Amino acid sequence: MPQLSVQLNRLKLANPILVASGTFGYAREMAAFVDFKQLGGIIPKTLTAAPRIGNPPPRTVEASSGLLNSIGLDNDGIDAFLAKTLDYLLGLETAIIVNIAGRNTEEFVQIAAKVGQHKQVAGLELNISCPNVSGGVDFGTDPRLAAEVVSQVRNACDLPVIAKLTPNVTSVVEIAQAAAEAGADAVSLVNTFQGMAIDWRRRKPILGNVIGGLSGPAIKPLALRIVWQVAQAVNVPIIGIGGIQSIDDVMEFLIAGATAVQIGTANFYNPGLAPQLVNELTEILTEQNCQSVGDIVGTLQIPAR
Ligand code: FUM
Repeated sequence: MPQLSVQLNRLKLANPILVASGTFGYAREMAAFVDFKQLGGIIPKTLTAAPRIGNPPPRTVEASSGLLNSIGLDNDGIDAFLAKTLDYLLGLETAIIVNIAGRNTEEFVQIAAKVGQHKQVAGLELNISCPNVSGGVDFGTDPRLAAEVVSQVRNACDLPVIAKLTPNVTSVVEIAQAAAEAGADAVSLVNTFQGMAIDWRRRKPILGNVIGGLSGPAIKPLALRIVWQVAQAVNVPIIGIGGIQSIDDVMEFLIAGATAVQIGTANFYNPGLAPQLVNELTEILTEQNCQSVGDIVGTLQIPAR
């Protein structure tokens, strides 16, 4: 049997298939559909310092091969999460990676310090890339700010730190480099692409927030390109995200240079997909005569020109 476990600096996962923040609630919602033990890990919805009610509706709209959302970080707030939800998650026998967002570096540090008290948490994912709240992407579009938030969170908390980056920049490589130099254990690539939908008959935007973030199969080629570019240039483990809905998609991200992947939008229409992909990964690695996931990570061959 091939070895499925993967190591992303200080973060060790039983397998490389994670479920993405914002697509799996706080996991309770998925209990009827998913054997959580089979997953590489769960990343619950982003937590902020205070509870948030999110953006006005409509907050989601289907696009061609994708989903536009403008949820606006609707969440219970970190204190309610730690008091009411974390124990449940820590009982699920899979890695729990807590995703957090602050309005400024101090808030990131304050939330990280609270989560850091809970040593069973596997890691922290810093959402420095939400396109739907004011200031949400600022950290992820400026290498200096990205580095500052990563290094200050590392100082405040012993947990492995992952920076989740936005594709809505000229060069994700530059931001990933800054996050890696500041001590990020890994980078998650990528959050959603900014987009919008229009009801032309009413001359109105469909989303209450006008602009949202596009996810799903529509963005897969774009995400794959970014994963590959960052893997070429930056020495940091990558968690690939973007429209993954089949084992072929998983293999493409791994071969492009990702060490692990997150399943996102597909959870909404096929909640059982992630554990199915874990099984299929075992089969395909066996078929490919691989001893471990590491045997295929970053093995893309570019034909000589
Ligand atoms: O609007 C939202 O809650 C989306 C968050 C994100 O894309 O990070």
